[in-house]
Amino acid sequence: MRTPRSLLVTGAAGFLGSTFVHRLQAQRPTVRVVSLDALTYAGDLANLEGLPVPGHHTFVRADIRDTAEVIRVMEAHAVDTVVHFAAESHVDRSIEGPAAFLSTNVEGTASMLEAARTVWAARAPEVVPRFHHISTDEVYGDLDGDQPAAVEGDRYAPSSPYAASKAAADHLVHAWRRTWGLPVSLTHASNSYGPRQYPEKLIPVVIGKALAGQPIPIYGDGRQQREWLHAEDHADGVLAVIERGAEGSVWHVGGPDTLENRELAGHLCALLDEAHPEGAPHARLMTSVPDRLGHDRRYALDCTKIRRELGWSPRWTLEAGLEQTVRWYVQRRG
Ligand SMILES: NC(=O)c1ccc[n+]([C@@H]2O[C@H](COP(=O)([O-])OP(=O)(O)OC[C@H]3O[C@@H](n4cnc5c(N)ncnc54)[C@H](O)[C@@H]3O)[C@@H](O)[C@H]2O)c1
Repeated sequence: MRTPRSLLVTGAAGFLGSTFVHRLQAQRPTVRVVSLDALTYAGDLANLEGLPVPGHHTFVRADIRDTAEVIRVMEAHAVDTVVHFAAESHVDRSIEGPAAFLSTNVEGTASMLEAARTVWAARAPEVVPRFHHISTDEVYGDLDGDQPAAVEGDRYAPSSPYAASKAAADHLVHAWRRTWGLPVSLTHASNSYGPRQYPEKLIPVVIGKALAGQPIPIYGDGRQQREWLHAEDHADGVLAVIERGAEGSVWHVGGPDTLENRELAGHLCALLDEAHPEGAPHARLMTSVPDRLGHDRRYALDCTKIRRELGWSPRWTLEAGLEQTVRWYVQRRG
């Protein structure tokens, strides 16, 4: 069991980074946390409001590609654990403009690895550092309907520029370990959802359009299958790995439920019919639009390893999680 003392969380003002910081502070109140974020369009400091232990939290506005600044922050806060969430994260944007994804996800990850390698080369012997990298199920690409779920170590076959940039970042993490002995771990998670997600992602899009009485876009036939994982369960899986997962190990953190996109949208509409009856039935707004280029049909992660070895399993059922998420967006809209 490692006990991190000072954690640097990149992308901490985004959806998953902020959820991780909230969960971490709720469960490990003595750990010091440095949230580092460039506050791009996807970052919002409001996501870090209401933290359980604000006295143990510092926010630094910085770009992960600024290696010298990351080194300064890591040294100033005696960081022993990096949890690297920061990324360009929206597949559609990667199709419109891949360059930002190569810069942030690939060069940015290399910069973070260099910073960690530099700082930890001079560490005291009692410090047990860890660079934890947040990856995605999308690096495995499309699975056929009858193909078994991906297991750790399966071949990468990313489809989108986003997934390819995340795959490249994963390879860099392994390379820094192999070449310089940087202590690392990785998690590949499935589609995550919950409060605080940026409005461009599928679940907030469906909720936002439905509440506005506008057409709810469904890509193609809407039969793409995704596993849905509550952001808090994602965060808890990451915490289990940085504390108890072996150095150099890779883990799948997958959602309990698989749904086709159109089923998911239908389910959200039904929840909205109760939470916001004025616009009911919201499902009438679901509208097929041309499919996303290269759209993967199915992702699936085999999570046997993390369940068996670390005892992690999702706490949220999809039903309860979607209800909570819908409530959060409805209340926020006022
Ligand atoms: N959301 C999902 O379903 C999901 C699933 C699996 C893995 N992931 C991975 O989790 C991570 C976080 O995803 P998210 O959904 O929270 O994304 P997000 O877009 O909500 O947040 C990304 C954060 O990174 C910050 N950022 C971007 N570029 C930066 C830079 N150059 N320097 C510093 N900060 C920068 C942004 O300001 C933002 O706060 C990503 O690495 C993503 O690939 C996401």
